[in-house]
Amino acid sequence: MKNGGAAVQRERGGTVSTKRGIVVLDFGGQYTQLIARRIREQQVFSAILPCTASVEEIGAQEPVGIVLSGGPSSVYDKNAPVCDPATLDLGVPVLGICYGMQWLAHTLGGKVEPAGRREYGPAQLEIARETKLFSGLPSSLKVWESHGDHVVELPAGFHITGHTDNAVAAIENAARKFYGVEFHPEVNHTEHGAEIFRNFVFTICGAKQNWSRAGFIAETVEAVRNQAEGARAICALSGGVDSTVAAVLVDRAIGDRLTNIFVDTGLLRRDEFHDTLEMLRDRLHLNVIGVDASERFLTKLKGVTDPEQKRKIIGNEFISVFAEEERKIVATAQGLPVKFLVQGTLYPDVIESVSVKGPSAVIKSHHNVGGLPEEMPFGLIEPLRDLFKDEVRQIGRELGLPEEILVKQPFPGPGLAVRLLGEVTSERLEMLRGADAVVVDEIRRAGLYEKTWQAFAVLLPVRTVGVMGDGRTYGNAVAVRVVESLDAMTADWARLPMDVLERISVRIVNEVPGVNRVVYDISSKPPSTIEWE
Ligand code: XMP
Repeated sequence: MKNGGAAVQRERGGTVSTKRGIVVLDFGGQYTQLIARRIREQQVFSAILPCTASVEEIGAQEPVGIVLSGGPSSVYDKNAPVCDPATLDLGVPVLGICYGMQWLAHTLGGKVEPAGRREYGPAQLEIARETKLFSGLPSSLKVWESHGDHVVELPAGFHITGHTDNAVAAIENAARKFYGVEFHPEVNHTEHGAEIFRNFVFTICGAKQNWSRAGFIAETVEAVRNQAEGARAICALSGGVDSTVAAVLVDRAIGDRLTNIFVDTGLLRRDEFHDTLEMLRDRLHLNVIGVDASERFLTKLKGVTDPEQKRKIIGNEFISVFAEEERKIVATAQGLPVKFLVQGTLYPDVIESVSVKGPSAVIKSHHNVGGLPEEMPFGLIEPLRDLFKDEVRQIGRELGLPEEILVKQPFPGPGLAVRLLGEVTSERLEMLRGADAVVVDEIRRAGLYEKTWQAFAVLLPVRTVGVMGDGRTYGNAVAVRVVESLDAMTADWARLPMDVLERISVRIVNEVPGVNRVVYDISSKPPSTIEWE
């Protein structure tokens, strides 16, 4: 993806600002995003930067405080992540969490050692000394630990403010406003975690509440209006939450100068193209072009069974359909150049690509629209770049979007093609659509649609023997996949009630001609993935 275009910048003060918030420096901890979330929940902006960010980059955010995240390393590991010690001279308060505290203590001349006993899970924190960080808290509380090292000697100027029966659990240098906690205040299992963040963010850092939904919308709309003045923009709309919220925000800013393109790849769920198009047009009043390209996609996919080849063909075909539409829009643009591409990129997409976690965490390229051709030199408008998925839903709610869009489960770009193993033909697609509709319907009826991450059917490339009525059948097998997840990076198979599984199975075999067997996928991710291809 190109990244030359500007994310929407909101830096002219006012009620919403990505400046004067809290910078979270990521040492590779599994809870780093959660830390940023907890701070935003206090209506204070927070940005995650890799720990390798330069002091200039950190300073450019004009932070009022810095949080050092946890991480899986030991400060004595050869490749232990570090940040520039000059960060500690920026003159803003610092809170080190777990590895962050160890790095802080180690860097300032203290001593860190492997703990006699590793601490994972719950521990009891005894507060040992009055400190602003624990102001208003009881003297003893349950906290969540996850560490193998601990601090055994404090740097000069530091005091112990809390301990567990196993280790030093909290330290501070109040004069320099440096704080450290060995436990994780960001996880729900830690009691009073939100208060600890409130104390740090407001009492210690003096942050202002400058991050609210209504303010975000107003500022974003104004910023997009300025950015796209005198120009047109286009957006590849999928009907999913992210692209729809992004399109509605930009639509508020520039109205019909935004053209949305919604492509029917022929690989969508039953009625999806028609229903979504209707909603985007009639209920959201967006300027949308619906392109039925299903024949083209099916023709290109003829005879193809290899999953990667399917994905490539679909990606390329999508780009060529999009480019054709773009040329038509340019031809009728009436003097206004088409300069911008609107994308529903979210914060985790941005973060994963700059994380210290290494190549494994870099976002898969297939999660974007794909590389657009060079002759489309667009600037990017990415109004959701600073938001998490649930924040996008809240913004959508504030914008008055229908709930059915906001709670919609994710659907992969290549659509049913990656849920149909073997060759993609219209007959097999029809079979898959029938089975898929049953799965979604039963999951909805059971009240599980919003509680599960994704629920769908997969058509397998095998045929099995069955018996229906008095006759032998030789039909198709369908797998049902229902998973729970928070971010799709990991997922677990849903423990569905037996009666729901039973109804799904009976209905699929009865209602979908050609299917005589249903199996339930009980694999988690990892080692499996959510989609089968
Ligand atoms: P996997 O199968 O990698 O999927 O565990 C993780 C999440 O990503 C979705 N997914 C895609 N989304 N284009 C998308 O926009 C794609 O090509 C694609 N492939 C997988 C998948 O549905 C799951 O939520």
